[in-house]
Amino acid sequence: MASLVSSDLEGSGAPSGESAAPIVHEVSGDKADKEEDGEDGEEGDTAPAGAAKKKKKKKNNNSKKKKKPFGTVVAEGRMLGGFTDYYTKYGQTEPPTKAVGDLFKNGEFPLGEVQKHGVTKYPCPDGGWQARTTEEEKKEKERLERPQLYEKVRHAAEVHRQVRRYAQSFIKPGIELADMCERLENTNRLLMAEKGLEQGVGFPTGCSINEVAAHYTPNNGDRTVLQHGDVMKVDFGTQIEGRIIDCAWTVSFDEKYDPLLAAVKAATETGIRAAGIDVCMEEIGEQIQETMESHEIELNGKTYPIKCCRNLNGHSIGPYQIHAGKSVPIVGGGGDRRRMVEGEFYAIETFGSSGDGYVVEKGECSHYMKEFNAPHRPLKSAKAKHLLSHINKTFSTLAFCRRWLDREDGGSMFLNGTKGRQDNHLAALNELVSHGIVNEYPPLVDTAGVGCYVAQYEHTLLLRPTCKEVLSRGDDY
Ligand code: CO
Ligand code: CO
Repeated sequence: MASLVSSDLEGSGAPSGESAAPIVHEVSGDKADKEEDGEDGEEGDTAPAGAAKKKKKKKNNNSKKKKKPFGTVVAEGRMLGGFTDYYTKYGQTEPPTKAVGDLFKNGEFPLGEVQKHGVTKYPCPDGGWQARTTEEEKKEKERLERPQLYEKVRHAAEVHRQVRRYAQSFIKPGIELADMCERLENTNRLLMAEKGLEQGVGFPTGCSINEVAAHYTPNNGDRTVLQHGDVMKVDFGTQIEGRIIDCAWTVSFDEKYDPLLAAVKAATETGIRAAGIDVCMEEIGEQIQETMESHEIELNGKTYPIKCCRNLNGHSIGPYQIHAGKSVPIVGGGGDRRRMVEGEFYAIETFGSSGDGYVVEKGECSHYMKEFNAPHRPLKSAKAKHLLSHINKTFSTLAFCRRWLDREDGGSMFLNGTKGRQDNHLAALNELVSHGIVNEYPPLVDTAGVGCYVAQYEHTLLLRPTCKEVLSRGDDY
């Protein structure tokens, strides 16, 4: 999910409830498992992901004819891969049906990608956490947190990788977005072994298209079909005990969008490299903008600069709180000198646009989320009370969408069985919104409108004491 800058909320805001439980993870790719024990030595030595990233620049139409270096299923989507061997090598079935927890019986999941912390150009007055803490203290903290925390978030990240590899094999022009989301989410539930709030889907599957940057997923009855010329951002999440992996990529089938995708991918990698304990929000945005805006794209004979969507942000993530209070800007000049703190989780996401680089809320709303500090307000209507108790039980403060309320399980088979459907919920939902108990998140659309294109890449990382772990890193992006 994305975070929209809403002036007063973003700039000076007080960090909200995230302080309670510092979270640390380690990112692992597929090489993962064995690296575990070398954690202390290696961190920081890993090359930045961007460097190793291989760009798939082939024509979509030729992709079938090209020799397949490995893999059983090659996705037709550009910049995707879709190699389902990624998960069959772990004993997963094709299509995937096994809970990922059962594939790693010893409870050790693949590591994310380990990187060194970024370095701030604004020295901390007190020397900073990095300088104050000894290497021994850092290692001891990681030793203690690994079983409780790191393995859980690595587990959630591994589910994300397997689900998206599968999704990349079936996302093709002509697919109905509602079907695509259902298939992706059902696989997510299966691989996560959905257990209500304990573990499951992290938030609705965003599949925002073209000038829509974020927060679109079909509502019931929406029969939108993916077109060959579309640029779609697939943004979905997994969660275990409220620890959310928020990770997104961009699908396009026409090679003319490659420069846009490449720019945004590079900008996100820049943001990931820049992040680190003691680093200021503002300086991350500066670096992202510099990378993004060094690119341009030619569409139909006209050259467009690629702009950052300046009012969209990455964000800190807390337990059951997708936006935990700190925003990571994707442009410079914001003046936010708050620093990243040891133990925090961040979603680093950037959006690049061939349009204005500024988004507004527009269109029918699908995404909703209970206010983290929801006020206690007496509700008059029985339907609103009923819906609120369903939301409390099924989603708590995790984001949800209207499509899930229309499912027979109401969003969780584990909790509701087949008796979860919330029929005709819109009026009750709107009532909860008007009371400030639930917030709505309508689609965010570039003001240039139809004819412009927005791309997004996003990863979730953890600021461990000794390194930064890009939890959601895969061999696809
Ligand atoms: Co996000
Ligand atoms: Co996201």
